[in-house]
Amino acid sequence: MSIHSSAASLKNNPVLFHPGVEQAAEDEAETIQGLIAALRQISETTAEDYHHGLRSVHAKSHGLVKGELCIADNLPEPLAQGLFSRAATYPVVLRFSTSPGDLLSDRVSTPRGLAIKVLNVTGELLPDRTDHLSSQDFLMVDGPAFLAPDPKSFLASLKLLALTTNKAEGFKQALSAALRGTERAIEAMGSESATVKSLGGHPMHHLLGETYFTQVPMRYGKYMAKLSLVPVSAELLVLKQQPLEEPENPDAIRQSVVNFFSQHSARWELRVQLCTNLESMPIEDASVVWSEDESLI
Ligand code: HEM
Repeated sequence: MSIHSSAASLKNNPVLFHPGVEQAAEDEAETIQGLIAALRQISETTAEDYHHGLRSVHAKSHGLVKGELCIADNLPEPLAQGLFSRAATYPVVLRFSTSPGDLLSDRVSTPRGLAIKVLNVTGELLPDRTDHLSSQDFLMVDGPAFLAPDPKSFLASLKLLALTTNKAEGFKQALSAALRGTERAIEAMGSESATVKSLGGHPMHHLLGETYFTQVPMRYGKYMAKLSLVPVSAELLVLKQQPLEEPENPDAIRQSVVNFFSQHSARWELRVQLCTNLESMPIEDASVVWSEDESLI
């Protein structure tokens, strides 16, 4: 598989990062401790259920794929930052997942996650990085915005998830089926609900037809951006909103990924959406979808 970075002309000037764009909540340290405690609770529950440690979220893996990331030549200055500052090809590893901390049947349909690990990256590491690996990670989920505006609101959802992390799978399958109906009804009205999807209401679509987003704003060299990974090869494009091939199979998602890569390769485009307006593209509210019209021609 391969990923290509893409360039597009900018309609508006990107906003320069300065520390004032971030406003840490007064109780942020307390919220972080709460997040750690909830994640630990999930890990302890699943370690007992499965007799070994798992990631506390995104535990179920649906495919590991090796490929290349090709950075385009002559990107305009705002896009030519950090890893993207010069034309190069990097080896990458992709891991596809679904968001819960327990290993549920794929009939409990939840948001799809994608981790991209770029290898052989050169340059300065973040000061608190201790692994000394020359790699850079991008984490994405298949929706344009995060399900909560800020860490404190996310903690409330995570606590609920921690309480329901166990093997009561029959209940979760029934709930998931009901929530998928709710999500279809919400989408029929021209909207969508990240919360309904995260609880099991995600449509049972092929994971490889999805577009993946970083959802929360991140530093992009001198600027701030959200990134997305968009399918572009013909074999991926036909999978958009395609129902899973074997919906009754508890590992239907993984099976569909294995089936795909036993026959095809894949190509995605890595897109960068720069923040051009701090009002409509807020840094401190991750639940706001940034309008692409404000970033592009
Ligand atoms: C306050 C917000 C968040 C918290 C506390 C959080 C926490 C975590 C934790 C603890 C893990 C497991 C790490 C491990 O054991 O290796 C994880 C994995 C992951 N997260 Fe988040 N996360 C947050 C936001 C996000 C966002 C905004 C995205 C992307 C849109 C994201 C995407 C992912 C993905 C794709 C993985 C799986 C990584 C892999 O495949 O190894 N997370 N997260």
